[in-house]
Amino acid sequence: MTTPLIHSLEARYYTDPAIFEAERKGLLARTWQFAGHASQLENPGDYFAFDMAGESLFCIKGRDGEIRTFYNVCQHRAHQLVTGAGSTRVVVCPYHAWTYELTGQLRAGPNIKAVEGFDKSNVCLTSVRTEVFLGFVFVNLDPDAAPMDDWFPNVRAELSEWVPNWDKLKPIEWVEIPESCNWKVSVENYSECYHCSINHPTFATGVIKPETYDIQPQGYCLRHTTECQSLENMTYEIDRSNAHAEEYSSWFLWPMFSFQVYPGNVLNTYHWRAVDADHVIVWRGWYTEEGWDSETIRRLAVQDRATTVEEDIHLVESVQRGLKSRGYVPGPLVVDPRCGVNSEHSVMTLQKWMREGVAPL
Ligand code: FES
Ligand SMILES: [Fe+2]
Repeated sequence: MTTPLIHSLEARYYTDPAIFEAERKGLLARTWQFAGHASQLENPGDYFAFDMAGESLFCIKGRDGEIRTFYNVCQHRAHQLVTGAGSTRVVVCPYHAWTYELTGQLRAGPNIKAVEGFDKSNVCLTSVRTEVFLGFVFVNLDPDAAPMDDWFPNVRAELSEWVPNWDKLKPIEWVEIPESCNWKVSVENYSECYHCSINHPTFATGVIKPETYDIQPQGYCLRHTTECQSLENMTYEIDRSNAHAEEYSSWFLWPMFSFQVYPGNVLNTYHWRAVDADHVIVWRGWYTEEGWDSETIRRLAVQDRATTVEEDIHLVESVQRGLKSRGYVPGPLVVDPRCGVNSEHSVMTLQKWMREGVAPL
């Protein structure tokens, strides 16, 4: 018996603004999304605002040390509360100066005492589920979302072994890469290495052994593993004293974040923010312990931007143009039952999640 062919997702998934809108209300409103790094909120009252799935949100650190996230909207008459990043004792709305505690509770407002029956303890900013995962702050608009450890089994334990100094790391660089394509084109491209040998000579011949590359689901994580071929060819000196120092691996957390660990336990990340059906912004994040050899990491960031990242931009933007062609008929995915580098089984898994992501709530 032959298994039926699995075809790539229909083009409208990547081009139709109505599908993007359905994703905004669907998967983007109920998955874990990266907000920022905990080191951005060192002291009580430190905050930063960000946009996600068409919502403005902000994270703020409480006096109890907890990082909370709120919709960036005043509960009086809906003015936005904060912009950018900063530090504050209380959150003051710029419209009529209603003042909120760092816990989101209304504290005071001009003349509110004049209103009979006004109970300020009933007014609180609307909070958003927040988790700090190895120093990275993630939020989920779904109040009933399962915790990240359920979505991404074992990832926390694995990463803490691969990046033993994770709690000392701080971002030194987030390289911003706007791409004229749908976010799913970029994420699919990230999640298969069928295109690597032709398009990423530095990556495929320098570090990894392509014949050992594989990508397997681990809950809603896609775990990339490979053997490395020639650590001598690396452009930086590798400290081999930690476990996994001679390996490369990555953990893609559906739908828009990935932890990567390069040889030498060098953590770097990808995160995506969908702008509209035709645009996504990708950030490459680089981290160091305070004051630790940031020159090497900066050089790596530059080299990565000039090679793999640059090579991928051309691929994904060409695909986006192709998806708008009347001549495109979605082709069969190359799903090799033995998996491996030249198989698109990971794209098959992603596309299953993508289909589910636009299903009605
Ligand atoms: S809208 Fe915020 S105080 Fe009025
Ligand atoms: Fe690529």
